[in-house]
Amino acid sequence: MGWNAAQYLKFEDERTRPARDLLARVPITEARRVVDLGCGPGNSTELLVERFGPDAVTGLDSDDDMLAKARARLPGIPFIQADLASWRPDVSVDLLYANAVLQWLPDHLDIMARLMEESLVPGSVLAVQMPDNFGEPSHVAMEETGADGPWSQAFASGRIRRPRLPAPAEYLRRLQGLSAKIDVWHTVYYHPMADAEAIVAWVESTGLRPYLAAVAPDERTAFRAAYLARIERAYPPMADGRRLLAFPRFFVVAVKA
Ligand SMILES: C[S@@+](CC[C@H](N)C(=O)[O-])C[C@H]1O[C@@H](n2cnc3c(N)ncnc32)[C@H](O)[C@@H]1O
Repeated sequence: MGWNAAQYLKFEDERTRPARDLLARVPITEARRVVDLGCGPGNSTELLVERFGPDAVTGLDSDDDMLAKARARLPGIPFIQADLASWRPDVSVDLLYANAVLQWLPDHLDIMARLMEESLVPGSVLAVQMPDNFGEPSHVAMEETGADGPWSQAFASGRIRRPRLPAPAEYLRRLQGLSAKIDVWHTVYYHPMADAEAIVAWVESTGLRPYLAAVAPDERTAFRAAYLARIERAYPPMADGRRLLAFPRFFVVAVKA
């Protein structure tokens, strides 16, 4: 199952807010080369184009559907298909910007250190934001749904489960020595969602995707319904009937020494 850009963009405003908050902390105003790592459908790339101009920005993603959406949204901006696990820029860059992508790569601390060591020059910047929600009810419910149903065998190995992010001190330990300045912080966003179904629709294009992909196609509807039932219980309605989705996110902005 590849990514579904249209589904991802259902919550574009909410998803782009942390991208703006990340960019607001990037301490450079001019750049000749900026790469949007895991650019998705181009929403984060658009922010970079607004700030640094169209000639400076390149988008990078591994997914066909996301790249097609990004190219349609920003004609004239180069988008390249590559896997971040092994990608290296061919020339030095002023900003490597990764909004909501590195959490998909369990060894992302090594990747961040490598990018800083090999691909940035002194004064250039690595800016990263990752959801830190693997312990949230939305994600615990994915595990519980996987373990409790006719599909449980598909989850027995625990292979789908993503580890929580390393502790903030670990990012500092690895990156501080490479940085002239490093800024690390957490923000919890609170999204009032119309109903439990809206929470499922939110995670369906991101965290729930590998779970749905693991169950047989004819079991997906039942899996989704079982997950929805858990979300109904985990996020009780507020006075106005909406459900409050707490969404912690972790940020790192490092300036290369
Ligand atoms: C959650 S989206 C983020 C999109 C956008 N940056 C934003 O701010 O909303 C994550 C993107 O990372 C891409 N991605 C995941 N793993 C990747 C990898 N190993 N290499 C390159 N892109 C990857 C996915 O295809 C997807 O488009």
